[in-house]
Amino acid sequence: MTTDSKQPQPVVSKLFEPLTIKGTTFKNRIGVSPMGTWMAGEDGLPLDFHLAHYGQFALGGAGLVVCEATAVEPRGRISLADTGLWSDQQVEPWSRITRLLRSQGCVPGIQLGHAGRKASTTPESRSYQSLATSQGGWDTVGPTAMAFSQQMKVPIAATVGDLEVIGDAFASAAQRAVRAGFEFIELHFAHGYLVSTFLSPLTNQRQDKYGGSLENRMRFGLEIVDKVRTAIPNHIVLAVRISFTDYTDNGWELKQSVEFSKQLKELGVDLVDVSSGGVVNNIDYSPLNTARQQHSASAVIQRESGLLTAAVGKIIDPILAERLLKDNVSTFVFIGRAFLNEPHWPYRASDLLKDRSFKYPPTYDWCIGWTAYFKWRNMLYTDKNNIDLVDVSSGGVVNNIDYSPLNTARQQHSASAVIQRESGLPTIAVGKIIDTMLAERLLKDNSATFIFIGRAFLNEPHWPYRASDLLQDQSFKYPPIV
Ligand SMILES: Cc1cc2nc3c(=O)[nH]c(=O)nc-3n(C[C@H](O)[C@H](O)[C@H](O)COP(=O)(O)O)c2cc1C
Repeated sequence: MTTDSKQPQPVVSKLFEPLTIKGTTFKNRIGVSPMGTWMAGEDGLPLDFHLAHYGQFALGGAGLVVCEATAVEPRGRISLADTGLWSDQQVEPWSRITRLLRSQGCVPGIQLGHAGRKASTTPESRSYQSLATSQGGWDTVGPTAMAFSQQMKVPIAATVGDLEVIGDAFASAAQRAVRAGFEFIELHFAHGYLVSTFLSPLTNQRQDKYGGSLENRMRFGLEIVDKVRTAIPNHIVLAVRISFTDYTDNGWELKQSVEFSKQLKELGVDLVDVSSGGVVNNIDYSPLNTARQQHSASAVIQRESGLLTAAVGKIIDPILAERLLKDNVSTFVFIGRAFLNEPHWPYRASDLLKDRSFKYPPTYDWCIGWTAYFKWRNMLYTDKNNIDLVDVSSGGVVNNIDYSPLNTARQQHSASAVIQRESGLPTIAVGKIIDTMLAERLLKDNSATFIFIGRAFLNEPHWPYRASDLLQDQSFKYPPIV
């Protein structure tokens, strides 16, 4: 008689363990970190680009996608290419995106923000160069009339009336976000944008009830949270992103972040997304290992405030992601650049963690085998003899053929060359085209006029990005975010 204990137990990782917060269920703990795309249309509207951009992550298995920093009022845009939610016209274009995300089992999230003294910049400068008034630049606001840098304009010190208006704009934008179908709202209180400049004593030198003591510096952020929480239904998950430190003496630091988080909890915030920096200029972040510091701060904040946290920063390795969750460093992992490079990151993660609870869509289930894929890819890179010219498609007509020893891909490429040469018709070469150099050679050697790529695209939806990089082809333009 066999006992259950002798059966291999299915692996269930922490990364793919579902979680329900206030009735909103996340199928896993993987969130796409908010990332500005500098691609908005006229008046801050999200476009087809955004639909495809965010859709790819949902299709790739993310449990949560947090759409980019989206301005709550026009003067809060980092640049003219920022998205917004300051008007009702912006609701429907966003709801196309939330519908798509939800249809793939992904919780739609959005980050709402106000850029403060870092607003009105040129998109090309990635926020470090003010936009001239003649180019459509506008007056910015901050706690104090102090510029971020010499390249940036000096903000107008916000009046108490301005703060009322901005707080109300956060609440109205949050209501629009709910109408657009977002179930997760993150307030952007980090990176030197408006609210973080109120928190930090280095950028807030006000003499009124919004400056000076910690209590006063936290006031504006807490007022916004209170207004937003009151304006949205209880089941909407509310998160706040903070910079846990300024990395500067006498600046904002972890202890204050813990205190702030405790007060956020009192006001009904569900999660703190722990980032860092961006408040003061001229800091060399490169030796600081900011990612590791963010993860450590997340652990402290989660433990001491009792709030859930998201850990973020250089999470590429699924094993690291799993460890952060298992060690109670955080409840979610937020992933940014790795998702841009690998929109199907969760597929590889589930494969690596051998977590069979994660279900690929059938076509991917059939084709994704990262171990085989990388072995196959590496073999092509290291053994140039395997790179040959081959052609068209083949087989599938009669049963019981063992295709495995036939090298059908190479045969197809060869046939493509023959058909192209002898028929005079352009051809398409298809079959195991993973290597950029092979693709380029098939075309250069007249084996084909087009190449069609199948399974490599399922594994690597951004295959052309890597190809252009590898071929050093400057004619190919990535979208700005990539
Ligand atoms: C292109 C790009 C745009 C970003 N835009 C935002 C943003 O809109 N809001 C925000 O809070 N952080 C933004 N970030 C920071 C990311 O959310 C994330 O915290 C950071 O990239 C570290 O995570 P990673 O190492 O996984 O990329 C951006 C980062 C990148 C690379």
